[in-house]
Amino acid sequence: MINALQEAADYIREQMNHQYEPEFGIILGTGLGALVEDLEIRHSLNYSDIPHFPVSTVESHSGKLIFGDLGGRRVMVMQGRFHYYEGYNMEQVVFPVRVMKLLGIKRLFVSNAAGGLHPDFNTSDLMVITDHINLQPTNPLIGKNINELGPRFPDMSEPYEETMIQQALNISEEHRLDVRTGVYVSVPGPMLETKAEYKYLSTIGADAVGMSTVPEVIAAVHMGLPCFAVSVITDLCVPGKIKKVILQDILDAAAKAEPKMTLLIRELVKIQD
Ligand code: HPA
Repeated sequence: MINALQEAADYIREQMNHQYEPEFGIILGTGLGALVEDLEIRHSLNYSDIPHFPVSTVESHSGKLIFGDLGGRRVMVMQGRFHYYEGYNMEQVVFPVRVMKLLGIKRLFVSNAAGGLHPDFNTSDLMVITDHINLQPTNPLIGKNINELGPRFPDMSEPYEETMIQQALNISEEHRLDVRTGVYVSVPGPMLETKAEYKYLSTIGADAVGMSTVPEVIAAVHMGLPCFAVSVITDLCVPGKIKKVILQDILDAAAKAEPKMTLLIRELVKIQD
């Protein structure tokens, strides 16, 4: 495993003539790919060209690794991610995050589209993730521990760095983004939830539900990477507000929130040391 990761990282470095060392990694969620329009792009690689990289199958994800400057900082952006529901195993789902770490990133920023479980949420709200619940059937650390990456029993008491959460809230106030905070629960999907399941997820303490993020954050925390994550609320999962969900509605709600999310991530990236 570590050899495959090294080979992917070596290939990427060669493609960039060893000229670009990213400081931060960013993963963009469903319908949230337009952050790259704010990037001064230096290099762009197709996932399909990178050794051992899984290839994205979801139509709403474009499958590119993009290197560039955002707010004056060097970032690498995954435009399109891998989900367990696509049939990848968890090692494949988190493969790119591990490659990012080998390429030298110091922090990870993640976005996703999620259903809102908290009764006060509206569609196109942003929710800064303060904690998570993993309801995926497995996780990327199962199996022999890769000691080169991190410890057997990584601590999970602060998967989302408190300092970055506070900074995000300050940015939100300054720019009137009106972000919410809450707990994200990750479910396998790909079907959306029944009303009874939404009620259950809310009861166990979740404020938003989605099908991603937690595997990547677990792998990042394992490697000692501080994480920041934000959900865009694309549909409401509260009794009385539940409607039939179609992908286009999710994409429309994400597109509406995208400028706010891009601003938040750009301003946050700018002030990291
Ligand atoms: N449930 C699960 N995943 C989602 C949802 C949802 O309601 N909305 C966007 N991603």
